[in-house]
Amino acid sequence: MTKTVVNSWNDFDPLRHVIVGRADFTCIPPTEPATEAKIPEDSDMRGMWGPRPLDTVEKANQQLDALASLLEDRGIRVDRPTPIQWNQAVITPDFTNRSMFGCMPPRDVLLTVGKEILSAPMSFRCRFWEYLAYHPLMQRYFDEDPAFRWEQAPRPRLTNASYQVGYFDEITIEERLNRTAALDFVTTEEEPLFDAADVLRIGRDLFCQHGLTTNRRGMEWLQRHYPDHRVHAVNFPGDPYPIHIDATFVPLRPGLIMNNPNRRLPEEQRKIFFANDWEIIDAAQPAHDAPPPLCYSSVWLSMNVLILDHKTVIAEASEVHQLEQLDQLGFEVLPVPFRDAYPFGGGLHCATGDIFREGRCEDYFPVQVPGTRIRPVS
Ligand code: NVA
Repeated sequence: MTKTVVNSWNDFDPLRHVIVGRADFTCIPPTEPATEAKIPEDSDMRGMWGPRPLDTVEKANQQLDALASLLEDRGIRVDRPTPIQWNQAVITPDFTNRSMFGCMPPRDVLLTVGKEILSAPMSFRCRFWEYLAYHPLMQRYFDEDPAFRWEQAPRPRLTNASYQVGYFDEITIEERLNRTAALDFVTTEEEPLFDAADVLRIGRDLFCQHGLTTNRRGMEWLQRHYPDHRVHAVNFPGDPYPIHIDATFVPLRPGLIMNNPNRRLPEEQRKIFFANDWEIIDAAQPAHDAPPPLCYSSVWLSMNVLILDHKTVIAEASEVHQLEQLDQLGFEVLPVPFRDAYPFGGGLHCATGDIFREGRCEDYFPVQVPGTRIRPVS
């Protein structure tokens, strides 16, 4: 067993230690103010809630275990969370929710910035206790790495004041897109809210997706918490369900980002990338025209890849167009079947959480351009 070192500043430096999620006990949570927005009207999940069928859990776990084995075979240390029985109510002084969710996607909850791992507030009520599945690992890292900083963002209250209750009732996709473009989301600015998967780490700069799960107050909290970082607010008007940035805007290596062609970063917000010689390319089209049954995410999990180093990437095995694009960009591409795991919380990037990548905190954006910073450039 290698010595525990917590350290990761981005998604592309050489990966040495990672958490891979587990599907056990995962539930489809009941409707709540924040998740009504997530479930499309024509989804097979509308109105359904409760534990997921056991055979689907087993299939998802097989694919998660295979991913863990592949990583271990390449010398990467893999840890796994400790699932809790997610089919229990969440009861706080402020709200009750009839079940929790799961611990397949550590990326949603844990934000690793350098030597710190921060548990995000989480803006869904069903995800209030999800960090507990990672608690045994955090305790262990705390004991094994004397420089590890174990952090927790302010626990949110998630009263009805945190949401525009009923906001998405009977709303068309067109209207959703109008509201997304106008930065008008189901979460309000009542309290700081963010999910870790809305935060894209690129060295000294943190790009946060302003959307259904992350608000401006959450970004302001991140800026105060990481005073040596520059926190940027980005948004993607073409996404009717802007939740988590990693099927929308995905860095591949220093200087190269792929952007979902249906959810382009607005021109004004691209300027900082161009000013620092970064290239933004369109991601390849997904190979599938629908997600698997009972899946929350879109077909764009095709671009939710896990980068092992500047030349090696894991992508979903059936995503032939994405595999081809990565190959043409010069990567060694490792195809891994993962669609059975998708319904449990996302793709290969979602299902993993960085503990250690080699490398330091680099400044990839020395030329700061006004327009994205949560605090104006001085
Ligand atoms: N909201 C995203 C999921 C990100 C992993 C999508 O469904 O495209």
